[in-house]
Amino acid sequence: MSILVTGGAGYIGSHTVIELLNANEDVIIIDNFSNSKPQALEAIKNITGKDFKFYEIDYLDRIALEKVFEENPSIDSVLNFAGFKAVGESVKKPLEYYTNNISGALVLLETMRKYNVKKFVFSSSATVYGEPERIPLTEDCKIGGTTNPYGTTKLYIEQILKDLYQSDPTWDIAILRYFNPVGAHESGLIGEEPQGIPNNLMPYIVRVAAGILPELSVFGNDYPTPDGTGVRDYIHVVDLAKGHLKALEKLNKEKQGLFIYNLGTGTGYSVLDMVKAFEKATGKKVAYKIAPRREGDIATCYSNPEKAEKELGWKAEKTLEDMCKDSWNFIKNNK
Ligand code: WQD
Repeated sequence: MSILVTGGAGYIGSHTVIELLNANEDVIIIDNFSNSKPQALEAIKNITGKDFKFYEIDYLDRIALEKVFEENPSIDSVLNFAGFKAVGESVKKPLEYYTNNISGALVLLETMRKYNVKKFVFSSSATVYGEPERIPLTEDCKIGGTTNPYGTTKLYIEQILKDLYQSDPTWDIAILRYFNPVGAHESGLIGEEPQGIPNNLMPYIVRVAAGILPELSVFGNDYPTPDGTGVRDYIHVVDLAKGHLKALEKLNKEKQGLFIYNLGTGTGYSVLDMVKAFEKATGKKVAYKIAPRREGDIATCYSNPEKAEKELGWKAEKTLEDMCKDSWNFIKNNK
C-alpha cells in the first residue's frame, strides 16, 4: 500500500517522508514548490537511501490530482502538508490562504472520496485554540477565536473533517494540532527555509547568530509570564514527524474514526529562555532588543500531550538543546 504526502518537499512534510521511508513505507509525494525546493527531494534520497514517486503538481489542480490517484491505485492514505503556514503573510494575503488551504483540502478530500481513499492525516495547529481557555491545553479545550487567516483555515478544515466524518463514518481521520515546530534533521541536509525575513522565532534567532540579520526583536517583555516574554511549546520537527507515523498506525488499527491530538512537549519556554538555550547549545551570541508586542500574539501557549502518549504511544523525546543545535547545524550547512 502507498502513502500520498502532499507538500512532501516542505519543512514538516520532508521530515515526515524521511521517517516513513525509514519505516519501509511506500511514499508518493506531490508538491508545487510554492514554499519548498526540489533540493529537499534529493536530500531525502541521500538521507534515507530510498526512492519515491514524485509529481510536481498543485493539489488544487483536480485533473492532475486525479491522474496521481489513477496511476497509483495502491494509495490507501493521505498526509496533507500542503497548507501555507505563515501567520503574518496570511494577514496580508487572506484570499491566497483561504484558496490554497481550504479549497485545496476540499479538492483533495473529494478526490480521495472518488477513489475510495478514506484514511487522512491533517496538519492542524495550536492556533485553533485562539486565546487559550486554560493552560496547559488539552484537546477538549474550546477552539475558535483565531486571530489570523492562517489559523482560521485550520479551524475551518477541522470543521469540514468533523462534518465529513458525521456524514460518512467510514472515514478514518487524524487531526494533529502542532505546537511550535523547530529544529532540523541531524544530517543538516534539510530544515526550515522561510522565504524572506522569518516570522517565527527560531529561524530568526539562527539568522542573527549567523550574522545574516543584525539582532532579534523580542516582541514584548510585559506579558504575565515569568520573565515577561512570550511562552510557547517548542517541539523538534523530527518528534513531530514521528507523531504522524504513530497517528497512521492508529488509523490502520481503528479502520474508521476521527481522532484529535496535540503534538507538543508539554513544556513552555519563553523567548529569553530560547535565546539563552541557543547561546548555551551553540556557543553563538544572539544580539537582541526589547520591542513592542506583536499584534495578535498571546502570552502563553503550551500543550498537555498526554492523550497522544496514551492513545498513540507517542511522546516527544528531543531536548531543547537538540532543537537549538539542529537548527544551528542546518543554517551553518545552508548559508
Ligand atoms: C513565538 C514567540 C513571539 C519572532 C506561529 C503560528 C503557529 C505555528 C508556529 C504553524 C512569540 C516571539 C517571534 C520574533 C519574537 N505555525 N517572537 N521575535 O506565533 O507562537 O506561532 O508559528 O503551525 O501556528 O501561529 O510562533 O515563532 O512566531 O513566535 O519575540 O522575531 O516568539 O512573540 O512569543 P507563534 P513564533
